[in-house]
Amino acid sequence: MKKRTIVALPGDGIGKVVLYASIKVLAAAGFNADYVEGDIGWEFWKKEGNPLPERTINLIEKHKIALFGAITSKPKDDAFNELSEELKDKNLVYSSPIVGLRQHFGLDICARPCKSYKGNPLNFIRNGKNEIEEPNVDVVIFRQNTEGLYGGVEWTNPPDEVYNALKTHPKFLKNFSEVPKNELSISTRIFSKNATERILRAAFEYAKKYNYKSVTVCEKPNVIRETSGMMFKLAQEIQKNDFPEIELWNTNIDAQMMWLTKNPENYGVIVAGNMFGDIVSDGFAGLIGGLGFACSAQFNVEKGIGVFEPTHGSAPKYADFKVSIVNPIAMIESACMMLDFLNEKEIAEKIRKAVAEVILEGKVKTYDMMKLSGRQNVIEKGAVSTEEMANAIIEKL
Ligand code: NAI
Ligand code: MG
Repeated sequence: MKKRTIVALPGDGIGKVVLYASIKVLAAAGFNADYVEGDIGWEFWKKEGNPLPERTINLIEKHKIALFGAITSKPKDDAFNELSEELKDKNLVYSSPIVGLRQHFGLDICARPCKSYKGNPLNFIRNGKNEIEEPNVDVVIFRQNTEGLYGGVEWTNPPDEVYNALKTHPKFLKNFSEVPKNELSISTRIFSKNATERILRAAFEYAKKYNYKSVTVCEKPNVIRETSGMMFKLAQEIQKNDFPEIELWNTNIDAQMMWLTKNPENYGVIVAGNMFGDIVSDGFAGLIGGLGFACSAQFNVEKGIGVFEPTHGSAPKYADFKVSIVNPIAMIESACMMLDFLNEKEIAEKIRKAVAEVILEGKVKTYDMMKLSGRQNVIEKGAVSTEEMANAIIEKL
């Protein structure tokens, strides 16, 4: 096996702990790699006024593949107050390094698999006819990662050119022309055709490769006619021309959030814009164990660049525990997505099987799997530490 170089981005808080736990599992499974560490996160905002230093961008540019823990973000005032004294007069504005990475590298495809493990005490259950049912959830959400409501094109008290342009729209004239301009806040939802097509194709290709019978566009085309409407129309064309063997379904985000507890087992691949993709993927993640289990990948297929990270954040509450108690599985699963991307299928499957065995056996559980609240004393109550969970997985390998 070729030796790889992976950029390790620990970030803040528990990001560091889960990242190194996953690297240990990767090594034990036989993944041959060197890791170069990249600086990212709050520490670098405070010290340098930039949470995503240029040198980190260059590292990713060079090596193309990054494993990312999590970062801390804080509101505007806190961000300013924590900046080191000599940087305070430099007019620096904090912006999320994750959003920065996505936009810089055009990581516009985000995939978030939500698959239930047999035996996970956190799996969703529901009342059936005569018994409790535990539906098998096997859903992969494809979220457009760079545009839409997270595109950052927004104003409070918009400049005149924008305001005047808005006044050319009859609905704006009718509903908002009486509101003083400085009382208007506007966030745009921009979809471009190319990026929309890319996320749709990624979803269909994934469905085809892994034998899912349907792709569901989860938007709101009956109300948000232009953006959601374009996405669904493009999906119809792509399905008809290139993927006739896969069914195309169409759900509205609001209804989908209700159906996801009613019949989650019916869905396969789901595709959505940035905001709705974020919402629906958190919804499904809740059915399979929540943040300790929710993994994700973001990539630019053309450039071969991928960043793999758990969906959870830096959980500052737990960051300074002498013995870390958080669940490393979300990070380990994200590392498996990296292996898929690098075509190291065998190692990925080996790790997933080991994780599945540990969960099914049910002897080794982190605090979340025991439904305890996260305190240092969970260890006395029988929960394992982050490291012990990683070791249990390694033992199965
Ligand atoms: P969070 O995901 O860090 O934590 C929320 C809660 O989820 C934790 O208190 C804990 O109870 C649980 N949790 C999270 N990860 C877990 C794990 N691996 N195992 C077991 N339980 C786990 O979200 P929160 O508290 O809203 O944000 C904390 C910081 O993280 C903020 O500064 C936020 O901006 C940042 N954040 C960063 C993200 C990223 O790096 N991708 C994503 C979300 C939040
Ligand atoms: Mg989210």
